Amino acid sequence: MTQDELKQLVAREALKHVVEDAVVGVGSGSTVNFFIDALAGIKGRIEGTVAASETSAARLKKHGIRVFDLNSVDELPVYVDGADEVNEHLYMVKGGGGALTREKIIAAVAKRFVCICDASKLVGVLGKFPLPVEVIPMARGHVGRELRKLGGHPELREGFKTDNGNLVIDCHGLVITDPPRLEADLNNIAGAVTNGLFARRPADLLLLGEAGGVRALSARKA
Ligand code: A5P
Repeated sequence: MTQDELKQLVAREALKHVVEDAVVGVGSGSTVNFFIDALAGIKGRIEGTVAASETSAARLKKHGIRVFDLNSVDELPVYVDGADEVNEHLYMVKGGGGALTREKIIAAVAKRFVCICDASKLVGVLGKFPLPVEVIPMARGHVGRELRKLGGHPELREGFKTDNGNLVIDCHGLVITDPPRLEADLNNIAGAVTNGLFARRPADLLLLGEAGGVRALSARKA
């Protein structure tokens, strides 16, 4: 099976976790695009969605699926999103597409986070994928220096602006042995809006697309 076929497989499997007549949280990225396309097939059975990026919102609307402002939603039973890396504790590195801040906000609201990935995303130690950090433009230099103090090699994502009008620094070379701790440390850097570590609010379920089918994994206790 190709990587896209694996993504499609987990995207379809995720439909089983969608709660009927409720609002569905929708992340962003290529795997989520397959989920959005699959969701179109059951759009009459959901109230609507909230989206983690303008790109996802546009794709949802193209399918005739309602997209709500998160502030108008009281309850979000399920959030479905991909990841750039995920480990056995279902801690994730996210933000490859730059939507990390809105993704983290929706994940915080959702009761349940279902992560959908192809098998290549499951890793032993997080950090090979450069960790994205969304940054207020005037803090770019300061955040970069702080990341260097933590042992990282920051690189500005050239020509990129987030949906919130900010910049993204991709931090290479971090060996992330204590993800919740590093997430908190990065949260404390002035001018860093969000970092792509999702450890303090990990996924609740991982649907992993493998050659033999979909493997469902719950978090192993840290
Ligand atoms: C977007 O900002 C990310 O967090 C995505 O969830 C992540 O990059 C996974 O994307 P793919 O499904 O395209 O690999």
